[in-house]
Amino acid sequence: MIIAIDGPAGSGKSTVAQLIASRLNFKYIETGSMYRAVAWKALQAKINPEEQERIAEVARTISIEFQPGNERQKVIVDGEDLTPVLKTETIGRLAAVVAANKAVREVLVAQQQDMGRNGNVVMDGRDIGTVVFPDADKKFFLVADQKERAQRRHQEIRAKSPEVTFEKIYEQLQQRDFEDENREVSPLVPAKDSIRLDTTQMNIEDVVAQMIEMIGPVHSP
Ligand code: DC
Repeated sequence: MIIAIDGPAGSGKSTVAQLIASRLNFKYIETGSMYRAVAWKALQAKINPEEQERIAEVARTISIEFQPGNERQKVIVDGEDLTPVLKTETIGRLAAVVAANKAVREVLVAQQQDMGRNGNVVMDGRDIGTVVFPDADKKFFLVADQKERAQRRHQEIRAKSPEVTFEKIYEQLQQRDFEDENREVSPLVPAKDSIRLDTTQMNIEDVVAQMIEMIGPVHSP
Protein backbone atom coordinates (compact mmCIF):
# COMPACT_ATOMS: atom_id res chain seq x y z
CA MET A 1 0.00 0.00 0.00
CA ILE A 2 1.26 3.47 -0.87
CA ILE A 3 -0.03 6.59 0.87
CA ALA A 4 0.80 9.90 -0.80
CA ILE A 5 0.60 13.14 1.17
CA ASP A 6 1.15 16.41 -0.66
CA GLY A 7 0.67 20.05 0.22
CA PRO A 8 2.38 23.41 0.63
CA ALA A 9 5.13 24.27 3.14
CA GLY A 10 3.92 24.30 6.72
CA SER A 11 0.66 22.44 6.09
CA GLY A 12 1.67 19.82 8.67
CA LYS A 13 2.49 17.13 6.11
CA SER A 14 5.69 15.77 7.58
CA THR A 15 4.49 15.64 11.19
CA VAL A 16 1.28 13.93 10.14
CA ALA A 17 2.99 11.59 7.65
CA GLN A 18 5.53 10.47 10.22
CA LEU A 19 2.81 9.72 12.81
CA ILE A 20 0.70 7.79 10.32
CA ALA A 21 3.71 5.76 9.19
CA SER A 22 4.62 4.85 12.75
CA ARG A 23 1.04 3.87 13.64
CA LEU A 24 0.61 1.71 10.55
CA ASN A 25 4.15 0.37 10.83
CA PHE A 26 4.94 1.72 7.36
CA LYS A 27 8.15 3.21 6.04
CA TYR A 28 8.18 7.02 5.94
CA ILE A 29 9.87 8.91 3.11
CA GLU A 30 10.08 12.68 3.43
CA THR A 31 10.93 13.72 -0.12
CA GLY A 32 11.43 17.40 0.78
CA SER A 33 14.62 16.43 2.63
CA MET A 34 15.97 14.91 -0.57
CA TYR A 35 15.71 18.29 -2.38
CA ARG A 36 17.12 19.91 0.74
CA ALA A 37 20.05 17.46 0.77
CA VAL A 38 20.94 18.34 -2.83
CA ALA A 39 20.72 22.05 -1.94
CA TRP A 40 22.96 21.53 1.09
CA LYS A 41 25.59 19.66 -0.93
CA ALA A 42 25.57 22.33 -3.61
CA LEU A 43 26.07 24.99 -0.95
CA GLN A 44 29.02 23.07 0.52
CA ALA A 45 30.54 22.74 -2.94
CA LYS A 46 29.90 26.48 -3.57
CA ILE A 47 27.84 25.71 -6.64
CA ASN A 48 25.37 28.39 -7.64
CA PRO A 49 21.86 26.82 -7.50
CA GLU A 50 21.14 28.32 -10.91
CA GLU A 51 23.91 26.25 -12.53
CA GLN A 52 21.57 23.55 -13.82
CA GLU A 53 24.04 20.94 -15.02
CA ARG A 54 26.35 21.09 -11.99
CA ILE A 55 23.38 20.82 -9.62
CA ALA A 56 22.06 17.84 -11.59
CA GLU A 57 25.44 16.17 -11.17
CA VAL A 58 25.17 16.65 -7.40
CA ALA A 59 21.77 14.89 -7.48
CA ARG A 60 23.20 12.02 -9.53
CA THR A 61 26.08 11.35 -7.14
CA ILE A 62 24.55 12.04 -3.72
CA SER A 63 23.52 9.19 -1.41
CA ILE A 64 20.41 9.84 0.70
CA GLU A 65 19.12 7.37 3.28
CA PHE A 66 16.39 7.51 5.89
CA GLN A 67 16.99 5.89 9.27
CA PRO A 68 14.69 5.57 12.26
CA GLY A 69 15.42 8.19 14.94
CA ASN A 70 14.06 8.89 18.43
CA GLU A 71 11.51 11.59 17.75
CA ARG A 72 12.02 12.23 14.07
CA GLN A 73 13.61 9.99 11.51
CA LYS A 74 17.18 10.74 10.51
CA VAL A 75 18.35 11.84 7.08
CA ILE A 76 21.79 10.47 6.29
CA VAL A 77 23.54 12.20 3.40
CA ASP A 78 26.74 10.62 2.11
CA GLY A 79 27.06 8.85 5.45
CA GLU A 80 26.56 11.99 7.56
CA ASP A 81 23.53 12.71 9.76
CA LEU A 82 22.22 16.03 8.43
CA THR A 83 18.78 15.95 10.05
CA PRO A 84 19.00 19.28 11.95
CA VAL A 85 20.87 21.31 9.31
CA LEU A 86 18.50 20.45 6.50
CA LYS A 87 15.51 22.05 8.25
CA THR A 88 16.78 25.65 8.17
CA GLU A 89 14.97 28.28 6.11
CA THR A 90 18.15 29.03 4.13
CA ILE A 91 18.29 25.43 2.92
CA GLY A 92 14.51 25.51 2.33
CA ARG A 93 14.87 28.51 0.01
CA LEU A 94 17.75 26.90 -1.88
CA ALA A 95 15.80 23.63 -2.10
CA ALA A 96 12.95 25.46 -3.85
CA VAL A 97 15.40 26.60 -6.55
CA VAL A 98 16.96 23.15 -6.86
CA ALA A 99 13.47 21.58 -7.07
CA ALA A 100 12.74 23.57 -10.22
CA ASN A 101 15.60 21.77 -12.00
CA LYS A 102 14.15 19.13 -14.34
CA ALA A 103 17.17 16.83 -14.26
CA VAL A 104 17.26 16.90 -10.45
CA ARG A 105 13.59 15.97 -10.32
CA GLU A 106 14.11 13.06 -12.70
CA VAL A 107 16.89 11.62 -10.55
CA LEU A 108 15.10 12.09 -7.22
CA VAL A 109 11.71 10.90 -8.49
CA ALA A 110 13.36 7.67 -9.75
CA GLN A 111 14.94 7.17 -6.31
CA GLN A 112 11.60 7.79 -4.60
CA GLN A 113 9.86 5.28 -6.85
CA ASP A 114 12.57 2.79 -5.97
CA MET A 115 12.18 3.45 -2.23
CA GLY A 116 8.43 2.83 -2.46
CA ARG A 117 8.64 -0.19 -4.71
CA ASN A 118 8.03 -2.72 -1.93
CA GLY A 119 4.95 -0.88 -0.70
CA ASN A 120 3.69 -0.08 2.79
CA VAL A 121 5.11 3.37 2.61
CA VAL A 122 3.93 6.86 3.49
CA MET A 123 5.57 9.44 1.24
CA ASP A 124 5.13 13.19 1.53
CA GLY A 125 6.09 16.05 -0.77
CA ARG A 126 4.59 18.15 -3.54
CA ASP A 127 4.21 15.75 -6.47
CA ILE A 128 3.80 12.32 -4.89
CA GLY A 129 0.17 11.80 -5.94
CA THR A 130 0.66 13.44 -9.34
CA VAL A 131 4.08 12.27 -10.56
CA VAL A 132 5.92 9.88 -8.23
CA PHE A 133 3.03 7.50 -7.48
CA PRO A 134 0.02 8.48 -9.61
CA ASP A 135 -1.50 5.09 -8.72
CA ALA A 136 -1.05 5.46 -4.95
CA ASP A 137 -3.75 3.70 -2.92
CA LYS A 138 -4.62 6.83 -0.95
CA LYS A 139 -3.79 10.42 -1.79
CA PHE A 140 -4.13 13.35 0.55
CA PHE A 141 -3.63 17.03 -0.13
CA LEU A 142 -3.17 19.00 3.08
CA VAL A 143 -3.79 22.73 3.09
CA ALA A 144 -3.97 25.44 5.74
CA ASP A 145 -4.39 29.17 5.78
CA GLN A 146 -1.12 30.94 4.87
CA LYS A 147 -1.03 32.99 8.12
CA GLU A 148 -1.67 29.86 10.18
CA ARG A 149 1.16 28.01 8.42
CA ALA A 150 3.53 30.91 9.05
CA GLN A 151 2.48 30.94 12.70
CA ARG A 152 3.24 27.20 13.02
CA ARG A 153 6.68 27.71 11.47
CA HIS A 154 7.35 30.67 13.76
CA GLN A 155 6.43 28.66 16.83
CA GLU A 156 8.66 25.82 15.68
CA ILE A 157 11.80 27.90 15.31
CA ARG A 158 11.20 30.60 17.96
CA ALA A 159 13.10 28.76 20.71
CA LYS A 160 16.19 28.24 18.57
CA SER A 161 16.14 31.48 16.60
CA PRO A 162 14.34 34.16 18.66
CA GLU A 163 15.57 36.90 16.29
CA VAL A 164 13.44 35.65 13.39
CA THR A 165 10.17 37.60 13.29
CA PHE A 166 6.73 36.35 12.26
CA GLU A 167 6.70 38.91 9.41
CA LYS A 168 9.93 37.52 8.01
CA ILE A 169 8.64 33.95 8.09
CA TYR A 170 5.34 34.98 6.53
CA GLU A 171 7.16 36.73 3.71
CA GLN A 172 9.43 33.70 3.09
CA LEU A 173 6.45 31.36 3.08
CA GLN A 174 4.61 33.48 0.52
CA GLN A 175 7.71 33.44 -1.66
CA ARG A 176 8.09 29.66 -1.35
CA ASP A 177 4.41 29.02 -2.11
CA PHE A 178 4.80 31.14 -5.21
CA GLU A 179 7.91 29.24 -6.34
CA ASP A 180 6.39 25.80 -5.66
CA GLU A 181 3.11 26.63 -7.42
CA ASN A 182 4.57 28.39 -10.44
CA ARG A 183 7.57 26.34 -11.49
CA GLU A 184 7.40 24.75 -14.92
CA VAL A 185 8.20 21.17 -13.89
CA SER A 186 5.79 19.41 -11.51
CA PRO A 187 4.27 22.49 -9.87
CA LEU A 188 2.39 22.01 -6.63
CA VAL A 189 -1.14 20.98 -7.67
CA PRO A 190 -3.51 18.53 -6.01
CA ALA A 191 -3.99 15.20 -7.78
CA LYS A 192 -7.53 14.99 -9.17
CA ASP A 193 -8.28 11.96 -7.03
CA SER A 194 -6.74 13.32 -3.81
CA ILE A 195 -8.62 13.99 -0.59
CA ARG A 196 -8.27 17.64 0.39
CA LEU A 197 -7.96 18.31 4.11
CA ASP A 198 -7.88 21.85 5.49
CA THR A 199 -5.94 21.67 8.76
CA THR A 200 -6.23 25.37 9.70
CA GLN A 201 -8.61 24.71 12.58
CA MET A 202 -7.47 21.18 13.39
CA ASN A 203 -4.84 19.84 15.75
CA ILE A 204 -2.38 17.16 14.67
CA GLU A 205 -4.17 14.38 16.55
CA ASP A 206 -7.48 15.10 14.80
CA VAL A 207 -5.82 15.22 11.39
CA VAL A 208 -4.04 11.90 11.98
CA ALA A 209 -7.19 10.21 13.33
CA GLN A 210 -9.26 11.35 10.35
CA MET A 211 -6.67 10.22 7.85
CA ILE A 212 -6.20 6.80 9.48
CA GLU A 213 -9.96 6.31 9.33
CA MET A 214 -10.00 7.23 5.64
CA ILE A 215 -7.10 4.88 4.93
CA GLY A 216 -9.08 2.02 6.42
CA PRO A 217 -7.84 -1.49 7.00
CA VAL A 218 -4.22 -2.19 6.13
CA HIS A 219 -2.86 -5.58 5.14
CA SER A 220 0.70 -6.54 5.95
CA PRO A 221 2.68 -7.94 3.04
O1 DC B 1 8.69 20.12 2.21
P1 DC B 1 9.98 20.89 2.25
O2 DC B 1 9.81 22.30 2.76
O3 DC B 1 11.04 20.17 3.01
O4 DC B 1 10.48 20.98 0.72
C1 DC B 1 11.62 21.71 0.33
C2 DC B 1 11.47 22.17 -1.12
O5 DC B 1 11.50 21.05 -1.99
C3 DC B 1 10.17 22.92 -1.41
O6 DC B 1 10.42 24.21 -1.92
C4 DC B 1 9.45 22.13 -2.46
C5 DC B 1 10.45 21.10 -2.92
N1 DC B 1 9.83 19.78 -3.03
C6 DC B 1 9.37 19.39 -4.27
O7 DC B 1 9.45 20.18 -5.21
N2 DC B 1 8.86 18.16 -4.45
C7 DC B 1 8.76 17.30 -3.42
N3 DC B 1 8.25 16.08 -3.63
C8 DC B 1 9.19 17.68 -2.13
C9 DC B 1 9.71 18.95 -1.97
